[in-house]
Amino acid sequence: MLRDVFLENRTCRTFDESRKVTREELLEMVELARLSPSTANVQPLCYKLVTGEDVKKIQPLTKWGGALPELHLPPEGHRPTAFIIICQDAKKFGDPAKFQRDVGICALAISLGANEKGLACCLIGAFDKAKLQEAAGLPEGVEPQLVIGIGKPDEERRVTEVRDGSTKYYRENGVHLVPKRGMDDIII
Ligand SMILES: Cc1cc2nc3c(=O)[nH]c(=O)nc-3n(C[C@H](O)[C@H](O)[C@H](O)COP(=O)(O)O)c2cc1C
Repeated sequence: MLRDVFLENRTCRTFDESRKVTREELLEMVELARLSPSTANVQPLCYKLVTGEDVKKIQPLTKWGGALPELHLPPEGHRPTAFIIICQDAKKFGDPAKFQRDVGICALAISLGANEKGLACCLIGAFDKAKLQEAAGLPEGVEPQLVIGIGKPDEERRVTEVRDGSTKYYRENGVHLVPKRGMDDIII
């Protein structure tokens, strides 16, 4: 059932590094993004796939778990084993701000594709754009929009109810808890 999939498809920030995500698996995830809806069907996005040793170049340029800075996520030895960098060629398709909805839709497609393979993701909007462009070897004009860290999950994550109005994620007994607003709160 889709609801079960969406419940399970939580952001992950601790991974089992012994499970290496392959380029072929990343291609299957991007295929889902390729088939996704797009503003005026322009399809302005392109993807940089990062696996193997190159992963080490990308990790330090990303910022994880801003609400839990004391945990320094992801912990050393528990980092993602692949990244997909969602990019846009600004020279070809114009201002990337016009296509941020496309980025979100494609990111969700990729994360669901990862989930189906027993993997999990962290979507990362906080990254050093200039350094990433260089480290990932992106052609001139191709701008990173969103980074997705991918690996086999090695932490328990669960949806919980919003308490005292806070939607901040937190940890209790080692479990990562993600408060989601109730239906009463979001229906106008
Ligand atoms: C567009 C976008 C950007 C995000 N950027 C970051 C980020 O830079 N670092 C991070 O650790 N998590 C990031 N996240 C993950 C969110 O923190 C996460 O989705 C939220 O805590 C809810 O958890 P859930 O994905 O399990 O529902 C981002 C999520 C989205 C949708």
